[in-house]
Amino acid sequence: MLKIVVNAPKGGVGKTTLATNISLFLAKQGKRVWALDLAQGGLMSEDLKASHDFDSSNNKIETKELEELPSRFPGSSKFDVLVADTDDYFKIQSNLLDENHRGWRVIVPLVPSDPKGCRRITRETAKLARAALVGSSRINLQVVINKCSLSDYSSRRQDVEGIMEREGILGLLSPEWIPFSTEPDPYYIKDPAFFDSIEKLLSSIGVDV
Ligand SMILES: Nc1ncnc2c1ncn2[C@@H]1O[C@H](COP(=O)(O)OP(=O)(O)O)[C@@H](O)[C@H]1O
Ligand SMILES: [Mg+2]
Repeated sequence: MLKIVVNAPKGGVGKTTLATNISLFLAKQGKRVWALDLAQGGLMSEDLKASHDFDSSNNKIETKELEELPSRFPGSSKFDVLVADTDDYFKIQSNLLDENHRGWRVIVPLVPSDPKGCRRITRETAKLARAALVGSSRINLQVVINKCSLSDYSSRRQDVEGIMEREGILGLLSPEWIPFSTEPDPYYIKDPAFFDSIEKLLSSIGVDV
């Protein structure tokens, strides 16, 4: 079972939105998805439960508000992918990123229109990467630009690249990005352009979609 963890040390950047839509996207593709909701409020769980696209006979929703990531996943052979939503306070353990954890992917969303938030996320991610890189040559983490309009994208991306380069982690910026969607539903975004970007993101991190 591949394990995807969505995390950033900052609220409002789209962790729950991405985790929810990645879960739905994969379920719609016929993958058996284990959605693990570690975030306060259980919003991903709530939206997945309400969605006809997340069939409970193939998929599972587990709500463990404010808990840590488990170290074992009993029953994982019945699932293809685990998708975990986490909260801002949640600290990724650096060993999750090393080569003993090849089946894990960490996605860190960041919103370029909030430069302070970008700097904070980048700084924390750089710390994590430095800790993980001791004894390891590549890490399974990608920072992803979220909530950006197409018209702003190239200049905003340059800003983010500047911030990440200064922290020495430009290599962790995903070539893919998630557009701002004007859909009214906060967590389950049905916009085809949004879903298209989720597909590209997943395929860029080696999820077979
Ligand atoms: N790509 C996007 N397009 C439009 N709205 C988004 C997008 N990503 C997140 N949002 C909105 O931003 C707000 C915060 O997102 P959320 O997923 O709750 O962030 P977090 O879980 O990091 O706190 C929500 O209202 C959500 O609908
Ligand atoms: Mg959230």
